[in-house]
Amino acid sequence: MSIPFLDLSRWDEALKRRLCRKFSEVLDAGLFSGGEEVAKLSDAVNQFLKSRFSIPCANGTDALELALRALGIGPGDEVIVPAMTWVSSAEAVVMVGAKPVFWDTDENGLLKDDWENAVTKRTKALIPVHLYGKMVRMEALTEKAKNLGLKVIEDAAQAFGSFQHGKAAGTWGDVGCLSFYPTKNLGALGEAGMCLTQDAELARRLCLLLNHGQPVRDEHELVGRNSRIDTIQAAFLNVFLEDFEANQRKRKTLAKRYLDELSALSELRLPEGILESDHNAHLFVVQTDRRDELKSFLAKNGVGTAIHYPTVVSDLGPFESTGNFENARKLAAEGLSLPLNPNLSDAEVLQIIASIIGFFGQ
Ligand SMILES: Cc1ncc(COP(=O)(O)O)c(C=O)c1O
Repeated sequence: MSIPFLDLSRWDEALKRRLCRKFSEVLDAGLFSGGEEVAKLSDAVNQFLKSRFSIPCANGTDALELALRALGIGPGDEVIVPAMTWVSSAEAVVMVGAKPVFWDTDENGLLKDDWENAVTKRTKALIPVHLYGKMVRMEALTEKAKNLGLKVIEDAAQAFGSFQHGKAAGTWGDVGCLSFYPTKNLGALGEAGMCLTQDAELARRLCLLLNHGQPVRDEHELVGRNSRIDTIQAAFLNVFLEDFEANQRKRKTLAKRYLDELSALSELRLPEGILESDHNAHLFVVQTDRRDELKSFLAKNGVGTAIHYPTVVSDLGPFESTGNFENARKLAAEGLSLPLNPNLSDAEVLQIIASIIGFFGQ
């Protein structure tokens, strides 16, 4: 049996019907930008994440860029970014004309808590990334940032639905950025993202920036851009949100099964805290110094895996910088994401586990 890392064409028939019905409703309404579905998505996310303002936009990368611009960060400014992340966290900083200053992560890929050593007089902000769905310790981080006079932009693109001390990922910082890329725990059927903020003035600026600076049509208060969400994506997300918690339970059950079955393998490092509420079990990343061998062995046995990410951003051509990125580089060399999604069957999970045990038992 061949098990893809993630197969987005597998649909539960009832869900498919609900999505088709929603598509048909949007077609009939004849409104494809803005409108009720977008407002409904904001309200639903506000309620679920206990956020004051949830501002949908075109994608998670734009959300980061909009956040930086809303906070007035630009040329001459520095922003601290973890070395291990998806490229967007650094890309957005460069796009606003500022400089990403990379810092190492801990062994789980989260910004190391001695990041204040990267602060210079140009530093304006930092971007903690809740990598793989696991939250950075936000209480300590926001406290330190406040004392240093720095803004916090949370990259919660992978962490929708993670809560620390009851407070959602994305609601701790000045702005929190979400991605609804299709592979995410809450994913659209296309591109979509969101900014969260608890500050009314920032919310206003974010709304202006993503809509050509217009408070109302044809009045342009500032130079903005078009980063509006598609109405159809907001509408699909409203459907997916209804199933979110049930799907999260499936993810956690599967994560527990992996932990139970694989914990005896001494050569395999398992993800920490994946069953806690501050981890949404987006990715199940194991670590081993035989990573490439394990990946090929699993592929031969029909098990698809992925690497998030094979190169740290600070080693990528356009972002190349020097520094001590030891933990981040180790994760890039040794991390392997196992299939983890609500659509996996029992037989598939058994095959994945048996293949991994088979590899280390060789
Ligand atoms: C950590 C991180 N930041 C930012 C993004 C950007 O989101 P999007 O793909 O919606 O632009 C992603 C998503 O891929 C991500 O994983």
